[in-house]
Amino acid sequence: MEVKIRYGYFDNINREYVIERPDIPVSWTNYLGVKDLCTIISHNAGGYSFYKSAEHGRITRFRPNGVPLDRPGHYTYLRDDETGEYWSISWQPVGKDLERATYQCHHGLSYSRFICDYFGIHAEQLLFIPINDDVELWDVVIKNTSDKIRKLSIFSYLEFSFQHIEIDNQNLQISLYASGSSYKDGIIEYDFFYEPWNYHFLASNFDPDSYDCVRDRFLGNYRTETNPIAVERGECHNSTELGGNHCGSLHKRIILDSGEEIRVIFMLGVGSREEKGRMIKHKYSDFKNVDNAFNGLKEYWQEKLSNLQVNTPHQGMNTMLNTWTIYEAETCVVWSRFASFIEVGGRTGLGYRDTSQDAMSCIHTNPNKCKQRILELLNGLTSMGYGLHLFDPEVFKSQKDQLPGVKLPTVKPTPKQEDIIHGLEDVCADDALWLVATVCEFVKETGDVAFFDKVVPYADKKEGTVYEHLKKILDFSADHVGQNGICQGLRADWNDCLNLGGGESAMVTFMHYWALKIFIEAAKHLGRDDDVQKYTAMADKVKKACEDLLWDDKWYVRGFTKTGRKIGTQESIEGKLFLNAQSWAVYSEVASEKRGKMCMDAVNDHLYSKYGLHLLWPAYSKPDDEIGYVTRVYKGIKENGSIFSHPNPWAVIAECILGRGDRALKFYDAILPYSQNDIIEIREAEPYSYCQFIMGKDHTAHGRARHPWLTGTAGWFYMAATKYILGIKVNFDGLVIDPCIPKDWKEFQVQRNWRGATYKINVKNPHSVMKGIKSIRLNGKLVECPISPQKSGSVNDIEVIME
Ligand code: GLC
Repeated sequence: MEVKIRYGYFDNINREYVIERPDIPVSWTNYLGVKDLCTIISHNAGGYSFYKSAEHGRITRFRPNGVPLDRPGHYTYLRDDETGEYWSISWQPVGKDLERATYQCHHGLSYSRFICDYFGIHAEQLLFIPINDDVELWDVVIKNTSDKIRKLSIFSYLEFSFQHIEIDNQNLQISLYASGSSYKDGIIEYDFFYEPWNYHFLASNFDPDSYDCVRDRFLGNYRTETNPIAVERGECHNSTELGGNHCGSLHKRIILDSGEEIRVIFMLGVGSREEKGRMIKHKYSDFKNVDNAFNGLKEYWQEKLSNLQVNTPHQGMNTMLNTWTIYEAETCVVWSRFASFIEVGGRTGLGYRDTSQDAMSCIHTNPNKCKQRILELLNGLTSMGYGLHLFDPEVFKSQKDQLPGVKLPTVKPTPKQEDIIHGLEDVCADDALWLVATVCEFVKETGDVAFFDKVVPYADKKEGTVYEHLKKILDFSADHVGQNGICQGLRADWNDCLNLGGGESAMVTFMHYWALKIFIEAAKHLGRDDDVQKYTAMADKVKKACEDLLWDDKWYVRGFTKTGRKIGTQESIEGKLFLNAQSWAVYSEVASEKRGKMCMDAVNDHLYSKYGLHLLWPAYSKPDDEIGYVTRVYKGIKENGSIFSHPNPWAVIAECILGRGDRALKFYDAILPYSQNDIIEIREAEPYSYCQFIMGKDHTAHGRARHPWLTGTAGWFYMAATKYILGIKVNFDGLVIDPCIPKDWKEFQVQRNWRGATYKINVKNPHSVMKGIKSIRLNGKLVECPISPQKSGSVNDIEVIME
């Protein structure tokens, strides 16, 4: 019999995921911080902090992929000073017997709370970062639940990291001698002697009884975080040092009567003791300020989320859309894709395609950050019309915004702006096309039409309006076609491992058509008729090429190698059918209804599994370098026939366009993390986060999910579900409502804020259809779509009847 294992549950009231069993086989993480300071923390309080950049701004150290899991972290130890018994508030690092101690971890929106009951003591440790201060607060409450007086010691522990991760990992002759620690007035300061503008500190709301800044003094020789000597003996050594490995441990002895509790605050901050440390210590020693900061964070998320809330008959969809999927999408936009337990800080900056896609999904919840990302990407576009595949937007900032000019002796030379402009051989054919949709989406959401005429520099030379940037992107794709007239695949297309070079990519051509349509709509809105004509002619040509060359009797091919071989055709033995070629044929609206249905039926027949849709079938087993690296990946993993998550929502969108709501939901459900809450023995990864991929059916671990959080899946599933299943979209001049739902849904509601007005949308489906609208009433009056924007501040009822 199959054993079903779950480790926790969704608490919808508090918007938390509550972990009741901490002995999960992998790390289940959360992100703290919404501006510049970030901590990635596991369900066992393991993890690391950084300021602005996970590569250059490291604050605490982490040993990724280590044994034991998730070390070190941001820990609080408790010790019974009468018996010497000690433990940590998070299960690890001390790791008490789960038969005798109970632990919970509540991962919430930008906070995590660890709860422990052991030895007659109830303890909580809440970690969060206030919106407006660069400090991580540890709000610790300890309660004596036994019937006698207790003498206890509390210790904080974290390990400081050299600020530059590569030096910290690889160049110990710098990292061990260029940073030091000191202690004064209850504040530990970690300094970088070379960079006297760079400091981190740890403070608390109490006068410590002892402290340690030297890691190996705190831990002791041949010990680990599991059994630190300082905790074992009940006192730190008051150690500091110039050079070496540093930690932050502040120790306090307390006495609690039976039933009595005490609250203690630790503060891990950015800045020097004098400039920031004292101020922060003073401010957050007042519990009112801690409470206000935490409430501020809760309100921040509440306000964001109130911009779109759904109530459907599907509990999993409600939980994921209302909280977790948008939270994940925002995380990708705010922190980019290079800080997690998988990407541990070796890279910095923005992936062109990833960021463009992420930034289109949460404009309604984070318009400012999305706008910043869009401008950075526009700046990362070359005057030829291709995007820099991976670049650090900092290089485009003027010198005065950058750090003071003292340079570490062994850091790699700072690249000049012109050094980072790569040539055609490194262009990914899809990269910039995404941005066309993202920019238009931004204007539709915000109504900021003038944005099209904003002047932005190109990465290499000159400048142009945003609108001109978009034209260059479309022209680049038109100019870079292969022998058949289909867009060249270049270094890669969306699929990093499909390396076609001068061969041709169906997906990019479908995307080109899609981006053209979106652009033409904008040009019409702006009244730029010449461009409407020019790009309509281009779009017609692209569509014809697709329909003439890419259809393969039952489905669309994925492309052609540079020697003209078809990829993803009936005759192929491996890689016969590719998901993206089908979903994008339909999503771009290149495919006729008939072909669309046929190719998506093939997807259902050959790519579907109960954990989601496979990226291709059958997986490759023989290297074929004309197709690319995908043929050298193990079968069933990542791009070679895993259930790559990111393309799954495109198939959902395709089914919605075809009007098949039941099928759309079937695809949505299969991969929904929420639905896998009780099969963690198979999934392993967090059930509140989409993962980059799930092992495919050709792999022995079919169903195992890997690489949580930083995947375009979240943003795209959010868009697929809200805009295509629930069918609530905004365009330049109004709100469009066009749902495609399972026929057994009787009704659903969506509340959407748009350009200052609120829309309470109630959709009824009395005739059990999947698609089609009979009538729409706005505040009681019959209207047609698009519904023009209503007055800012107004609250509007919209009733929709499907038929
Ligand atoms: C990874 C990359 C993304 C790419 C995908 C498929 O998720 O971040 O850019 O599209 O893999 O190769």
